[in-house]
Amino acid sequence: MSAAGKKKQTVRALAAQVLLQVSERGQSLNRTLASAQQQLARPADSALLQEMCYGSLRWYYRLDVIASMLLKKPLKQRDQDIFCLLLVGLYQLEFMHIPTHAVVKETVDAVQALRKQWAKGLVNALLREYQRNAERLRTQWQQDEEARYAHPAWIIERLQQDWPQHYQQVLDANNQRPPMVVRVNQQQTTTAHYRQQLREQGIDARLCEFVDSALILEQAVNVYELPGFDEGLVSVQDAAAQLAAGLLQLQPGMRVLDACCAPGGKTLHMLQACTQLQLVGLDIDADRLAQVQQNLDRGGSSAELLVGDAAIPASWWDGRVFERILVDAPCSGSGVIRRHPDIKLLRSNADINNLQNRQADILAAVWPLLAPGGMLVYSTCSVFRQENEQQINTFLNRYSDARERRIDAQWGFPCESGRQILPGTQGMDGFYYACVEKQT
Ligand SMILES: C[S@@+](CC[C@H](N)C(=O)[O-])C[C@H]1O[C@@H](n2cnc3c(N)ncnc32)[C@H](O)[C@@H]1O
Repeated sequence: MSAAGKKKQTVRALAAQVLLQVSERGQSLNRTLASAQQQLARPADSALLQEMCYGSLRWYYRLDVIASMLLKKPLKQRDQDIFCLLLVGLYQLEFMHIPTHAVVKETVDAVQALRKQWAKGLVNALLREYQRNAERLRTQWQQDEEARYAHPAWIIERLQQDWPQHYQQVLDANNQRPPMVVRVNQQQTTTAHYRQQLREQGIDARLCEFVDSALILEQAVNVYELPGFDEGLVSVQDAAAQLAAGLLQLQPGMRVLDACCAPGGKTLHMLQACTQLQLVGLDIDADRLAQVQQNLDRGGSSAELLVGDAAIPASWWDGRVFERILVDAPCSGSGVIRRHPDIKLLRSNADINNLQNRQADILAAVWPLLAPGGMLVYSTCSVFRQENEQQINTFLNRYSDARERRIDAQWGFPCESGRQILPGTQGMDGFYYACVEKQT
């Protein structure tokens, strides 16, 4: 049944179902939430539903431990929707400014929508018990590392290994709400002028120390409230992601491959940063590539967009070499957990080896497509060394005509090869960049 045809539901029942889809069925938060928002009995509750879903997932690993402590015995598999509702209730009690009696009443009422009448008493009793014993429970859950950091053990361990000096800071940053950051189209206006335009609309924004085109909004707004959004004057893009176009050192007329381009944030940026590029945007996912087209249309820009596998150029390449290649590779997303808290549940440790192999296949396949003297920029929104500097170290060792061009910058940390930004440092998402030149 289409979302529009489904029975309208209350916000807490829908939040529990979104959590269930993510935690039990491996669905992405973005997609499930969008469909749940269409089923709201009161469309005005849309922001509330979003807050409950993002928050419950952000703190899932803590709420899960607390709920398990409260339950005398685990709920049956078929009653995981009630478990999720309990997490939504606990999230409200712990993190939202809603009066306790309203949280308990509304959460218990949501049981009805889940058609589990028997669970009313249970949810009521457990939420009240939590209220009475929050302090005692806190001492208990603080002993549990997953609950304390609100992350799965494998991410905590990897971060401890990769960033022994910084892992706590990264875990903490992952649990913060990210700022909304925009990129101002420098072809049409200046950052200072656009900031003034925002101020006139009552939207406060600050400059970013390292990225001239970026403005960090004090409060998130609907994109359509941003002056000139429809005309491509501004795009939503984290400051770290805005570094790619500059690193490519584009010149008018260059032939450029954006090998993993969807949804097109960096594609549009490149086209707006440098005129007359002959840009080929490639992505394996046709639906996501359609979003690139929408982005380009909004910016009044054009590029040749192809659906294809970057690791198999024979299926899409016309034989003409590129002077620049951007490989913004598929990755764990471990640098953007603050924006996508469902990553904590959807990814597993085993994924990292697979991702590393896919990234290596893409790099190996596009390297012959780069002209001698040309440059490839490799980027990920990951903080795991296996996907980043280890990947590039291996690549540099394997190809004798590949030389790293060191990035001379104030942002991030220099690695053995490339440069790493950790999430939250300097306000940015976690990102990795490396520039590799092809010897002539
Ligand atoms: C990190 S996202 C790219 C974000 C994009 N560059 C931007 O700035 O908006 C990675 C993209 O790689 C695509 N992808 C994954 N494997 C691919 C492959 N083998 N060939 C081409 N694209 C691939 C995914 O569909 C996804 O859209």
